[in-house]
Amino acid sequence: YMVDKGNHRHFMEKEIHEQPEVISHTLAHYLDFAGGVSRKLDLPFDFAKLDRLAISACGTAFLSGLIGKYWFERLARLPVDIDIASEFRYREMPISPDSAALFVSQSGETADTLASLRYCRKADIPIGAIVNVRESTIARESDVTLPTLAGPEIGVASTKAFTCQLSVLASLAIRAGVARGTISPEKERKLVRELSEAPRYAGQVLRLDRQIEKVARELAHYKHVLYLGRDTNYPLAMEGALKLKEISYIHAEGYAAGELKHGPIALIDEHMPVIVIAPHDRIFEKTVSNMQEVAARGGKIILITDKKGASLSSVETMETIVLPDVPEIIAPIIYALPVQMLAYFTAVFMGTDVDQPRNLAKSVTVE
Ligand code: G6P
Repeated sequence: YMVDKGNHRHFMEKEIHEQPEVISHTLAHYLDFAGGVSRKLDLPFDFAKLDRLAISACGTAFLSGLIGKYWFERLARLPVDIDIASEFRYREMPISPDSAALFVSQSGETADTLASLRYCRKADIPIGAIVNVRESTIARESDVTLPTLAGPEIGVASTKAFTCQLSVLASLAIRAGVARGTISPEKERKLVRELSEAPRYAGQVLRLDRQIEKVARELAHYKHVLYLGRDTNYPLAMEGALKLKEISYIHAEGYAAGELKHGPIALIDEHMPVIVIAPHDRIFEKTVSNMQEVAARGGKIILITDKKGASLSSVETMETIVLPDVPEIIAPIIYALPVQMLAYFTAVFMGTDVDQPRNLAKSVTVE
C-alpha cells in the first residue's frame, strides 16, 4: 500500500487535514444520516442487558475511550470502567458476567491492549474492538470488529485515528442509549443530525491554521505547558499534553481544571502557559473561575473556546482561539483539531522529527 504526503510537509499534517473526510466516512458507517437513526449492529451482546462496560486501551486510544465513558454514561446510563491496558491486565478487576469489554486500538497490535483482551476472553465476556487495521490481531481475536475508517495512519502521533475512534464511540453510545431506552427517537434524530455536521465544522477549524501557527510560535519558547479542561475536555487536555510531549518534547501536563487547586496551581507563573479548552457548556463558568485563579497568579492563558465562550469570558488571555459554536455531542471531535494543530506547529518550530519522534514507535508490540 503506497501512501505519500501529497502537498504536505509531514504525514501528520496530511492526516490532520484528512479528518473532515475520514470522520465523515466513519460516521456514515454507523449512522444513517438520511433516516436520522444509528445503524443496527451485529453485536455479541445486548446493550439493554449490560450492567457495565469495560474499556481498555493505550495512549491516545485510551483518551478516546475516556471520552467514550462520558458519552456512554450520559447518553445511555451505562456505567463504564476505563483503564490503561497495562494496568487493566494486572489489576485483577472483578468482571461481571453481565458486562462486555471494548478495546480501542489504531494498530490492533498493541501488546498491553491485546493482553487485556485475552484477560477478558478468559473471563468469558463478549468482546468488541474499535480498530483501524482490520486484519490486525486485536480485530481477529475479538467477537466484533468496529472499524474506524481513517485509512492508513503513518505519523507516529495518532490524529485522524483518534477523531475516528471518537466518531465510533459517539455512534455506539447513541446505539446503546436507544437500546436502553434513554434516547427517544426524536433525540436520536437530533444527535445523528448533529454528528453529521462534524465534518463541516472540522473543515472550518482547519482554516484557523494561521492563528494556531502563531500561537505555536510562542509556545515553542517555553519549557512547560499546562493543559486544563473539564468534562470531555479533560481527556482532551490530556491528549493535548500527550501530543506536545510526543512530538515537540516540551513538558506538558493535562489536568482536570477542578484539580488545579490540588497541586498544579503551585507551578503557575509567567513561565508556564496554561492552555484551557473551554467551549461554552454547562460548566463553562467553573472553568472561567479556574482561569481567573491562573490569571491572578501571573499565568499566561491560551483559551480555546467558541464564539459564545469568547464573548462571555472576562479573563485576560495571551491568545484566544475561537471555534464555531458546535453541538455538545461533537465538541470533543472538533476540539481535538486545534489541540493536534498546536502540537504539530510547535514541533515544526522546534525542528523535531514530527512523523517519527525520538524513542517512540507507531505500534508497540512489546510490553
Ligand atoms: C503508541 C503510539 C500512539 C498510540 C498508542 C496506542 O504509543 O505512538 O500514537 O496512541 O501507541 O496505539 P494503538 O495502535 O493501540 O492505538
